[in-house]
This record gives sequence, C-alpha cells and structure tokens, in this order.
Amino acid sequence: MFASMENSSIRSYTHGLVLAPMAGSTDSAFRRICRSMGATAVVTEMVAAAGLSRRSVKTIKLLQYEPEEKPIGVQLFGSRPDDFARASLLVSELGFDFIDINAGCPVKKVLRSGSGSALLRDIPRLAAIVKAVSSETDLPVTVKIRTGWSPEEPVKDSLPTILANEGAAAIAVHGRYRSDMFAGNVRKLEIKRIVNCSPVPVIANGDVINVEAAIDLKNSTGASGLMIGRGALGNPWIFRGVSGRPEDAVPMPGELTSVISKQFEFMKEYIPREHVYHILRGHLLNYLKGFRGASGLRRKAVHVENSTDLNGILAEAEKLLRMERIDRS
Ligand SMILES: Cc1cc2nc3c(=O)[nH]c(=O)nc-3n(C[C@H](O)[C@H](O)[C@H](O)COP(=O)(O)O)c2cc1C
Repeated sequence: MFASMENSSIRSYTHGLVLAPMAGSTDSAFRRICRSMGATAVVTEMVAAAGLSRRSVKTIKLLQYEPEEKPIGVQLFGSRPDDFARASLLVSELGFDFIDINAGCPVKKVLRSGSGSALLRDIPRLAAIVKAVSSETDLPVTVKIRTGWSPEEPVKDSLPTILANEGAAAIAVHGRYRSDMFAGNVRKLEIKRIVNCSPVPVIANGDVINVEAAIDLKNSTGASGLMIGRGALGNPWIFRGVSGRPEDAVPMPGELTSVISKQFEFMKEYIPREHVYHILRGHLLNYLKGFRGASGLRRKAVHVENSTDLNGILAEAEKLLRMERIDRS
C-alpha cells in the first residue's frame, strides 16, 4: 500500500537518527521495524530515476511503503536530469516526505552510466540534477555523497554551497572516498570539513556499529544528524540504544524471536509467497550473528522454506542466547 499524501518535517532527517538506504536490505518491512525502534526517518534503497521515468512496474514496486514508516524519503539514482525530473513528479504524488539523490554509490555498473559517485566528478551534472528535482517538486531535496572520488580528488569546499544554491536542503556524507569502497575507518575529519563549509545541515554516516561510535561520530564531526547502515542490519535495536539507554541497544530475552516474527509478518503483507522465504533468508543471516552457535543457525537459515523451519531456528537461537546470558552473568 502507498501511504497518504501527508507530509512531515525534514528535521527528522536532518537532525535525527536515520536508517541509511541499503539496496537489497532496507525493504519496507525492515524499515518499519527500524522506525519502531527509534530511527527518526528512513530512506528507500536506491531506485533508478530512468525506470521511474518510464513508469517501469518493476521499479515502481521498490517504492512500496507503509504510513508508519514516515517520514520516508525515496532515493533516486541516475545521471540524466530529465529522468530525475519525471521521476520526482511520480514520487511526489506518492506521499514521500523528501527526495534523496544518490551521489555516493561506488559500484562499477552504476558508475558506468555516470551515476552514483561518478557525479562527484561531474559537479555541473550533479547540480543540474538537484535543480531538476527541486524545480519539479515542493518536496525537500537531499543529496547523499561520499567525501570525494579519492584522496587526490576530495569533495571541494564549494560543493555544499553549489548544491544548496540549486535547492538541496541537506547533505548526507558517507565518510569514505569512492576509492575506499567500504574499507578502512570512516574519515571523520573529512566529514567535519564538509560540515564546516556547508550552509545546510549535514548528516554523518559511517561505521556506527554501537552507541559509543554514534556519540563519537556526532561529536567529532559536528553533524546535525546521524545515519546508520550496516550497524542496523540484524540489529535494529541500535536505534533504541542510541536514542535512549545504551543498554537497550541489544535485544531483550525473547525479543530476537518477536522482532524477526513481526518483520516476517510485515513481509508477507506485500511479498508474494514464492519469494518471501528467499528474502527472509537474507535478513536471518544478518540477525543470527554475534553469539555462540550462530554460525550453525546461519547454515540452517539458508534453507528455511516454511514457518516450521523458521520457528525451529528461532527457538534454538533464543536457547543459545539464554545460555550465553547465563554464562555472562
Ligand atoms: C548492502 C549495502 C547496500 C547499500 N545500498 C545503498 C544504496 O542503495 N544507496 C546508498 O546511498 N547507499 C547504499 N549503501 C551505503 C550505505 O547507505 C552507507 O552509506 C554505508 O554502508 C556506510 O554506512 P555504515 O558504515 O553505517 O554501513 C549500501 C551499503 C550496503 C552495505
């Protein structure tokens, strides 16, 4: 179901604790779970502006969301301002709260068409895309970038102002260069540099895997908001811990089962039966980590194909977690 036209504040994105867009992982069901745990805003995975502009049914399906996910942004990727303009028109009819432009994806297939982080090497094109989106819709427009193409080609101090002048309301920065891919530590000083020269709010992103890392990234960059990606996969509780008590960043007894079961119920609402277990397996592999015996459960999880299999795995996981808690106490 698409949600209503109601709009909500972009502040939940710019000054909040946001679930990062992650292709293949941040589907509607998982986003609902993260919002219920304290994520203040969510973003769809990247969606092809060209596909939306052609009204491709397969692409439009990626726009599926539920009202309780709001505030929600849709992330568009592409390289042609016209595609973005047409896609933005469709998106604004569907009740999204903001439109995010992907200028950070480092994957070769995406770069080949001049999309993703290739846009960091073609600022006039990126600026034209921001302009195309902001002139086509009243929705706030945000841009997700990396710190640059490579250490030799960092983002210039002038970039945030260029984007803001074309209508960008905020910039999310994954603190890595394209050449880093996902390796090495997040470059906090580079994020801080971008924060310091940006006229619009900056959301810092990278390596927030626990409460300490969240506090550190916020303090060391001066960013107005934080975005969490991999740290939330299989651990939506991270949002609860960061926004509330640090000890709540891990599941309580029984909660692993209840959250996975809830997520699965959400999935069944919109994913056809023939696909739902396949998609569930990916999420299970994320959840079943970090405790003794988890690898054995992951081996079973890749074969899960009915509710009996799932319930068996969840019961075993709770048993292993209980034993681990007793050992630790
Ligand atoms: C599996 C995966 C898929 C991703 N897909 C997207 C995407 O669709 N759009 C995007 O802007 N970034 C994407 N990213 C990057 C994340 O949004 C985030 O910037 C990056 O993982 C760093 O944050 P983290 O250390 O909190 O994970 C993806 C990352 C991963 C691991």
